[in-house]
Amino acid sequence: MADSSRGTWTGRVGFVLAAAGSAIGLGNIWMFPFRAGQNGGAAFVLVYLAAVLVVGVPLIIAEVMIGRATQRNPVGAFRTLRPRGSWQLVGWLGVASGFVILSYYGVVAGWAMDYAWMAASGSLTSAGVDMQATFDGMLGNGGRQVLWQAAFMAVTIVVVSGGVEAGIERASRILMPLLFGLILMLLGYSLTSEGASEGLSFLLNPRFEDLTWGGVLAALGQAFFSLSLGMGAMITYGSYLAPTESVTRAALLIAALDTALAILAGLVIFPLVFTFGLEPSAGPGLVFITLPSAFAMMPGAAFLATVFFALLLFAALTSAISLLEVVVSFFVDEFEWNRIRASWTAGGLIFALGVPSATVDGFLDKMDLLATNWMLPGGGVFIALFAGWALTRGEAEGGYRGTDGHSGGFVAWRFCVRFLVPVAVAVILLQKTGLVG
Ligand code: PHE
Repeated sequence: MADSSRGTWTGRVGFVLAAAGSAIGLGNIWMFPFRAGQNGGAAFVLVYLAAVLVVGVPLIIAEVMIGRATQRNPVGAFRTLRPRGSWQLVGWLGVASGFVILSYYGVVAGWAMDYAWMAASGSLTSAGVDMQATFDGMLGNGGRQVLWQAAFMAVTIVVVSGGVEAGIERASRILMPLLFGLILMLLGYSLTSEGASEGLSFLLNPRFEDLTWGGVLAALGQAFFSLSLGMGAMITYGSYLAPTESVTRAALLIAALDTALAILAGLVIFPLVFTFGLEPSAGPGLVFITLPSAFAMMPGAAFLATVFFALLLFAALTSAISLLEVVVSFFVDEFEWNRIRASWTAGGLIFALGVPSATVDGFLDKMDLLATNWMLPGGGVFIALFAGWALTRGEAEGGYRGTDGHSGGFVAWRFCVRFLVPVAVAVILLQKTGLVG
């Protein structure tokens, strides 16, 4: 049963900061801007906002509610609520997703660490550096990537082994305000740059002719990944939440912070890209090639580049912490390992699984496709079906309300998890199998 030795947040603020820290990550700063750039700017942003409201927020609520009601890791949570049947497989899928995602996420975060280091030492932005060659050089050097991945994973493990309150919450309380401070600072530069209006209109003018059916589904998938949904990260963080806190309010706040940071990242990146006449739809290279090229042409280049890559690194760190915590909470609850042993064992195994992503060409992309195309949406459908259909109306309402007595929005929420979320996500999955569109 619930035991306080698992740890708890100090309160709602601690929970919201940690959960927003999980949500805000490489997905916001690295993926959102280039996806928006490639799929019609504000046209993509509008679909994304709809996906966050209709699919994202209801699923955050469902996950947090399941965690809060059971005070268990994803596997234990489903088993506690439905001891018979196969629902706990959804928890196993979540733990497996944590393994897979963090394995390559740690590699990309390692790139950010490497770049932050190069930026701080001034070598990234010194005269005559070819950014494409720098990036290709890094990708071609497996040993270098593994070293930075190891450094990043070590930091993640140290934070998680510190515990829920003294490790995760404390890191979030420092890093999240810092993150918003850093991005606002960069925003000041980008909005006063010459290309500001062109960059803003690129992001904020809807170009519906550039939005394809694939772009719509990309927005849905992006909402999943960006909000850390479908693998029980929010179940795990919810399991450290007291039943007195309102889930709905917290969910809306988490979604709003995550969306704000994604849009801010776009507002920072595109004006700079246009100021220096660079290519806005550069894809994944936008952040590691295009943007440093822009920084290199600005006064204070080394400083700006350092701020940006520190931002990327901190965002990645709070997300990686939540990915590792899913696996760690599983070992702590199910095998009664102590947290330190669980953190280093799980972190070490995940690091090892990530080595091929750093060294074998194309492996990282395969892992990413597996996780973001299949594991997260698959997990998300089942979590929605569980909350909407497996739980009785009474159980669902009790979990939704907690002990704070408010069930405002319950009917709308239940409609979403019963019908809209499963259908929307099933369509994404069908499209991946090639059966639709
Ligand atoms: N939400 C994180 C990001 O945007 C990634 C993540 C996915 C974290 C799933 C935890 C769980 O980068």
